Amino acid sequence: MTHPDLAAPARYAVAGNPVEHSRSPAIHALFAQATGQSVDYGRLLCPLDGFATTIRAFAADGAQGCNVTVPFKFEAFELAARRTRRAELAQAANTLRFDPTAQGGWLADNTDGAGLVRDITVNAGVTLTGQRVLLLGAGGASAGVLGPLIESRPAEIVVANRTVDKAKDLVARHQAWADEHGVALRASTLADVGTGYDVLINGTAASLSGGGVPVQGPVLKAGALALDMMYGPAARPFLRWAQAQGANGRDGLGMLVEQAAESFALWRGVRPDTASVLASLRAEVDALPDGTH
Ligand code: ATR
Repeated sequence: MTHPDLAAPARYAVAGNPVEHSRSPAIHALFAQATGQSVDYGRLLCPLDGFATTIRAFAADGAQGCNVTVPFKFEAFELAARRTRRAELAQAANTLRFDPTAQGGWLADNTDGAGLVRDITVNAGVTLTGQRVLLLGAGGASAGVLGPLIESRPAEIVVANRTVDKAKDLVARHQAWADEHGVALRASTLADVGTGYDVLINGTAASLSGGGVPVQGPVLKAGALALDMMYGPAARPFLRWAQAQGANGRDGLGMLVEQAAESFALWRGVRPDTASVLASLRAEVDALPDGTH
């Protein structure tokens, strides 16, 4: 019988294009160390037209799963035979587990929303239940978090997007889930979001294109939480805006670490402690000069 300590490490990777800047390998190495798990987590650069082929070869080579990042989260969802409810709602997956069944009998999950909710409620200590939430954007980033946000039972979630039809589609897909959880869910243009929100979550790519925060005027209550899903220098203009609004600004670093912990738990059956990992990443990211990542 093989002693488990002598067995080859379980292999995982982050699959995307690009992947060279991903912090996932460092995060998972720290999780593995902290939990005593034998894990080898690398990077898998997939050609834009070769995601499925690359992933199938990785699985056939004995790997046990992967995280999936831009631009393959939708394709990853399509590839899997089984999907969690939260992946179904997102129509996108950031985590695949290569269960040892027939080829392609994989499980697709999306841990982004659970990561976001945990960062807000546990790390930031902010209650979502009963609150008014404004979610900016209706692309993949927002789609990945809306289901778990609804599960945290805020009183209301408004999804506002530059292209309002995309917000309407996202809302329509989540309407039954919102009704089930007693959440008032609606779509809005960016111009008509109204005011008095307790929590704002920025899932747009506006800061990447130099557009800044895509809402005008005072939309937040004093002391509200304003969270950008980006982190590092890309999130700094948003954080300055939040401060000017009298809000508590927060970037997406905690969400990054928490979604990773959720993936690790799905694969390994043990949820790593995130506080020390977040603290060391925080020091690293805060030291980055503007214009880098
Ligand atoms: P991701 O997967 O990162 O969410 P995406 O699907 O391209 O990427 O979505 C980007 C989001 O940022 C969209 O909601 C987009 O709005 P549109 O649907 O109208 O394109 C939003 N976005 C990008 N640049 C923006 C800007 N300058 N102002 C406002 N919203 C912007």
